[in-house]
Amino acid sequence: MAGKRTNSQLTGELLVELRRDDAVPLHRQIEASIRAGIRSGRLPLGSALPPTRTIAADLGVSRGVVVEAYQQLAAEGYVTSRAGGYTQVAIGPEPAPAPVRPAPSPRPRIDFGYGRADVSSFPRAAWLRSIRRVLTEAPNERFGYLDGRGAPELHEAIADYLNRVRGAAADPRDIVICNGYGQGITLIVQVLAASGARRIAVEDPSSGDDARVAARAAGLDVVGVPVDQDGVRVGALDRLDADVLVLTPSHQWPTGGVLSAESRAAVLRWAARRDALVVEDDYDAEYRYDRAPVGAIQGLAPDRVVYAGTASKTLAPGLRIGWLVVPRHLVGDVAAAKVAADRGSPVIDQLAFADFLTRGEFDRHLRRMRPVYRRRRDALLSALRERLPELEPAGVAAGLHLVAWLPPGLDEAAVVTAAARRGLGVYGVGPYRIAAEGAGGLIFGYATLGERTIAEGIGLLADVVGEMRSR
Ligand SMILES: Cc1ncc(COP(=O)(O)O)c(C=O)c1O
Repeated sequence: MAGKRTNSQLTGELLVELRRDDAVPLHRQIEASIRAGIRSGRLPLGSALPPTRTIAADLGVSRGVVVEAYQQLAAEGYVTSRAGGYTQVAIGPEPAPAPVRPAPSPRPRIDFGYGRADVSSFPRAAWLRSIRRVLTEAPNERFGYLDGRGAPELHEAIADYLNRVRGAAADPRDIVICNGYGQGITLIVQVLAASGARRIAVEDPSSGDDARVAARAAGLDVVGVPVDQDGVRVGALDRLDADVLVLTPSHQWPTGGVLSAESRAAVLRWAARRDALVVEDDYDAEYRYDRAPVGAIQGLAPDRVVYAGTASKTLAPGLRIGWLVVPRHLVGDVAAAKVAADRGSPVIDQLAFADFLTRGEFDRHLRRMRPVYRRRRDALLSALRERLPELEPAGVAAGLHLVAWLPPGLDEAAVVTAAARRGLGVYGVGPYRIAAEGAGGLIFGYATLGERTIAEGIGLLADVVGEMRSR
């Protein structure tokens, strides 16, 4: 084997594998190797092959053997010899065969998909300023491997933010930066499973990804705790046998209930009694429209609650930035799990987010977006009131989606399917339930739709429902 690779320069390096005990003559082996490189794109169109003398010396063969190989490739049109005396690749790679995919289901024309921030409003200019500042000012050691918890600048910035805005009791030393809530809950579940946890409780209904998927992967049993219009039903906790309880107390996903102060205290009493941990998924806390803010549960019991936050709803899911505030005795294990998972989140993004937070850009962005989302929510509510008064909206005081309960006689799955046929994306609560029973309801995400489109979408849904009723 000689050399490594070539590019458009005359590097004198090229990967050619020779088997001297093979019956195939050496010049044919060289030809085959280069031909394969050109076909695969490893030797791109226009790149220069090393001089025959160099290859011959590298491979320990006579120059004539290499010349013969080059001549054959030139005759086949793979390479051309240029006036400067070097040989260049003359054709592009063979296109890869098109993968056989099932026909994609058409995207709805109007899509009330939930779980989305309006990424068209991402604060690009401010983020760019933060990136620029970070690249100019960050000390060199930040570009090495970091501790599994992440960048210290971001720990400070997030602790300040959470303590100021969410009433948390966050110490920067207890924060672990992760790739969004999805990774955060996975790390927590792994650590708890390794320390003997057997059973995890989640709200019913709740997101089917994240906690449930992580729990199954870690071999934990999953149990559902029913929710009502005020979040998790604390009466059900008396009988709850679990080591971990995952909650969305600031805006239950998907039904939108807000856990009251009394219920929060009851949850913490349950956790103390069982020596269990509560995971607080505070995914939607920043968008609150017409109710007083409710502080994070973590602030009441930092040694019993893991707080989980994410930039997915406030900035963009594509950033993959999330944070955990972890009880002190678990921080080391969670940081070790993060290192084992991926050796840490990308540091430039962490530092940029820290800069973005400390300069007040995050607050500014939220202040700018809150009225935008509120207007969209209001448009949705008034369209529902006008066109579909038999639906009962819930969970409207916060977040980027709401649920509208269906009246008896309107089947959730049938409405979703009929709407999809008309190019309208609405989504049922049913797929997120653990217990088989429960009222039918539709989840409407409104963050990415303009007000006129929202009204048009609900008009279309009213037509769909009218047609179903008249059948
Ligand atoms: C309940 C809930 N929590 C958190 C998230 C955010 O997940 P991530 O931070 O991994 O993007 C989502 C995403 O849709 C969600 O539905």
